[in-house]
Amino acid sequence: MNPSSTKVLFVCLGNICRSPLAEAIFRKKIKDKGLEDYIITDSCGTANYHVGDSPDPRTIKNAMQNGVAINHLGRQLHHHDLVHFDLILAMDESNLRNIHRLPNASQHSHKIKLMRSYDVYADTMEVPDPYYGTEQDFQQVFEILERSTENLLAAIQERFNS
Ligand code: 4NP
Repeated sequence: MNPSSTKVLFVCLGNICRSPLAEAIFRKKIKDKGLEDYIITDSCGTANYHVGDSPDPRTIKNAMQNGVAINHLGRQLHHHDLVHFDLILAMDESNLRNIHRLPNASQHSHKIKLMRSYDVYADTMEVPDPYYGTEQDFQQVFEILERSTENLLAAIQERFNS
């Protein structure tokens, strides 16, 4: 495969909690490994509630506490994203269903997966929505995304090397 073509999109509902955090953690890992020229990443929401908004202040605080800078403005998923990105990772089953409902999604279904399909410790396949939760819930989301993006990067690097 052509490594320069690897584009990964993280998708949640509002694009202010889970998916911008996944993007920020993954972006840091890409930078730390010097892979910025080979892997492109972005995030979006299936809903339009927070288009143009910064991530939730609790997400920003949690990311900072974990040494991750987060810099994103909310945007809504568009069906063109299915063409542009190579891998589209949904945070939960509800968002996965909504991605599959986009026009022409059936042509791209091989690219659409759950984020936690990369989590070795997954007792559920969902990244829980922390929006109505506590600081501890935000930290739990961070730890899930940290593990999942680590395994995701390893899987992409394996494909580069094969
Ligand atoms: P996210 O969390 O999907 O992880 O960004 C949410 C953010 C906002 C809302 C729900 C979930 N909301 O209802 O506004």
